[in-house]
Amino acid sequence: MNISIIGSGYVGLVTGACFAELGNKVICADNDTEKISDLKKGVIPIYEPGLEELVANNLKRKRLRFTTSIKEAVKESEIIFIAVGTPSLGNGEADLTGIENVARQIAINMSSYRLIAEKSTVPVETGEWVKHTISTHVKRNVKFDVASNPEFLREGCAINDFMHPDRIVIGVESKKARDILLSLYKPLHAPIVITNIKSAELIKHASNAFLATKISFINAVSNICDKVGAQITEVAEGMGLDKRIGSSFLNAGVGYGGSCFPKDLDAFITISEKLGYNFELLKAVKDINEQQKACVLGKLKDALWIIKDKTIGVLGLSFKPSTDDIRNAPSLDIIKALEAEGANIKVYDPQAMAKARSMLKNAKFCKDPYQACKDADCLLIVTEWDEFKELDFTRVKKLLKRPLIIDGRNIYDPKKLSKLGFIYIGIGRSEK
Ligand code: UDX
Repeated sequence: MNISIIGSGYVGLVTGACFAELGNKVICADNDTEKISDLKKGVIPIYEPGLEELVANNLKRKRLRFTTSIKEAVKESEIIFIAVGTPSLGNGEADLTGIENVARQIAINMSSYRLIAEKSTVPVETGEWVKHTISTHVKRNVKFDVASNPEFLREGCAINDFMHPDRIVIGVESKKARDILLSLYKPLHAPIVITNIKSAELIKHASNAFLATKISFINAVSNICDKVGAQITEVAEGMGLDKRIGSSFLNAGVGYGGSCFPKDLDAFITISEKLGYNFELLKAVKDINEQQKACVLGKLKDALWIIKDKTIGVLGLSFKPSTDDIRNAPSLDIIKALEAEGANIKVYDPQAMAKARSMLKNAKFCKDPYQACKDADCLLIVTEWDEFKELDFTRVKKLLKRPLIIDGRNIYDPKKLSKLGFIYIGIGRSEK
């Protein structure tokens, strides 16, 4: 099929490359000329395992093309995905300026039937506005359909998520749109949920909000574990084996971050409010997530007493492993709070340091985890990169000023570290 993706950010790029890999002819468009000129040369602006190879392979086979011209993209494709950003406005609302703009440009450039599918995460009823915008600007007698086809890609494993999805959600209003999307996704052999457009839009917001709720729930329980000396990892295991609950997304830690959960939660709370519903549950989920960062600071203070002039070695900047993404990363808030109290920060991350440098002007960026440990009063784990799980602890102990580890992601075995002579403090894992 001939497909265009408007917006070559994280979602657009992965989606475009994967559709091309499935044998479709794909045009990825973006108004960022520098980005497009890099992409034409195979230079990928983000770190996502496997993406560079996928793009290179499909560029070579001429199944993937990049352009700055929406006109060209619309002219040559029957299906047009909108994958532009929907950032948060200051008040939590999603900024849909990009969506409106693209919808208008698609309409102006359409001269025969097109299926326009929303990929970006958008508040419920955006599809209605897209339809309205296209109707207003399209030439008379040109037919089109609008669909909602939300993505559920996780950074770090986005290609695998695309190729092996738990489900594909298709929100449509016509048989034609339904048939086109069904045949596009047929090669993936995945369960397909067909709904109306509003339900599809809501599935996306509700799924992300539910996952964030699961994380905040287990983080809240971890606070109780700390108070009584129970082990959150055991509690989570015992809960997760209940099939109705499920074991994923029950890892307690420093809180969730990233480009999706915080933004989507805000947008869901705001659209609910606009529709006349006060979604208090989600407000609490958000609050707990903020408190979790403060909880890590509290643990540091309990262990070090005064933070001023102490050196903290921080391992991990990205909001989760296998990505260089630091958007809404808990690391940034934690480091800034520590610096505000007068701490010296030494930090290491396998991928995210380049992106973080301009935001953390006072931190010392280290070449490896051991340099971050050298002469530090404490080692703080913020992101659970595999590299940190296999440290040489004898070396770490020699390098640290005090053998204190605050494990913000519960990646270490507390008993093993205690045996090696460390003071180990995890999340919801204190011994009483
Ligand atoms: C998420 C959704 O999973 C995906 O479906 C959607 O399309 C985009 O948003 P992503 O932001 O890439 O994907 O990351 P995800 O793996 O879901 O993790 C989100 C955050 O939750 C991370 O900060 C992670 O560290 C945190 N998390 C996750 C926990 O703290 N505990 C867990 O048990 C799981």
